Amino acid sequence: MSTFVLGHLSDPHLAPLPKPRLADLAGKRTLGFLNWRRKRHAIHRADVLARTVADLKAHAPDHIAVTGDLVNISLADEFAPARAFLETLGPPADVTLVPGNHDAYVRRAVGHPQAHWGDYMRGDEGAERSAGEPAFPFVRRRGPLALIGLSSAVPTGPLLATGRLGIDQLRRLAEILARLGREGVFRVVLIHHPPRSRRSDHFKRLVDGKALRAALARHGAELLIHGHDHVHSLQWLEGPRGRIPAVGVPSASAAPRGGEDAPAGYNLYCIDGTPGAWRCEAISRGLVREGENMVEIGRTMLVGD
Ligand SMILES: [Fe+2]
Repeated sequence: MSTFVLGHLSDPHLAPLPKPRLADLAGKRTLGFLNWRRKRHAIHRADVLARTVADLKAHAPDHIAVTGDLVNISLADEFAPARAFLETLGPPADVTLVPGNHDAYVRRAVGHPQAHWGDYMRGDEGAERSAGEPAFPFVRRRGPLALIGLSSAVPTGPLLATGRLGIDQLRRLAEILARLGREGVFRVVLIHHPPRSRRSDHFKRLVDGKALRAALARHGAELLIHGHDHVHSLQWLEGPRGRIPAVGVPSASAAPRGGEDAPAGYNLYCIDGTPGAWRCEAISRGLVREGENMVEIGRTMLVGD
C-alpha cells in the first residue's frame, strides 16, 4: 500500500481583525480585542500564514487537518474570511476542521463555526445527520485513516481558555473508538486542546482531559493531533496496547520573534502498513528566521519501528 500523507496545521488566528462595533465589545471580547491590539497582531501575520500554506501544499498531502482557532474573538465578520482561508487549503472533502476556543469565544458566537464552516466539520454521512443530532464526534474515512473530529470549544469567562468535551461526547467517542478499533483502521483523533496540560496551563486546560485519556487508554487510537499551545510538542498517552502519540503544532501564522509562541510550523504524518502493523512518521517543518523559507525541524517515528 502506498503511503498516506496527512498534513496538520493549527491556530492560524487570521489577521487582520475586522473593526468591531462598540456593541460587540462587551465582556470577554474587550480584553481579547485589547490583547490583539497590544500584542497578538504582531505575532499572527498573514504573510507568515501564506508561507506556511505554500510549503504545506508543495508537499501535496492526501488530506489536511486543521485543529482550530481560525479566528480571534469570534466577531461575526471574522467567520467569512476564515471560510475563504479554508477554501485556499482545499474543498471540504480534502480538509477536516475542528473548532478551537477562539472560534467559540463568547456565548452568542457559538453557532458561527457550524454556520460558516459546517461542511469542513462533518462526517461522511454528511447531510443525513438529522437536525437534533450532535455534530461531534464526527468520523471521516480517507485511505487507511478514520479521522475522528472532537469539539473542545466552549465559551468561557474572561482570562480563561479552557476546553470541555462533556460526558455525552466522551461516551460517543468511546463507542466510535471501540468500533473502529475492531475494524483495524488507523484512528486519528482531532481536538483543539491537548489531552494533558502542564500545571502552569491550568487556566487553558481541557477540563475533562482525564476522562479523554481514560477513553483512549481503554479503547485506543493510533494518533491524536491538537493545537492550542502554539508549539511543536509530543506527549505519550497510555493505550490498551502500547503508547499513543499526542502531537501538537505551532500557530501556522506565528512570526519568528521569540516569546512563548514558536515560529510558524506544521506537521506531515506519513502513514503506511497494515492493521496491527501500522507505521507513522511525523515530519515537522517550520520557520527558523524571518524572511527565510520553511525548513525541516525534525522527524519522529510515532508508530511502528
Ligand atoms: Fe490558539
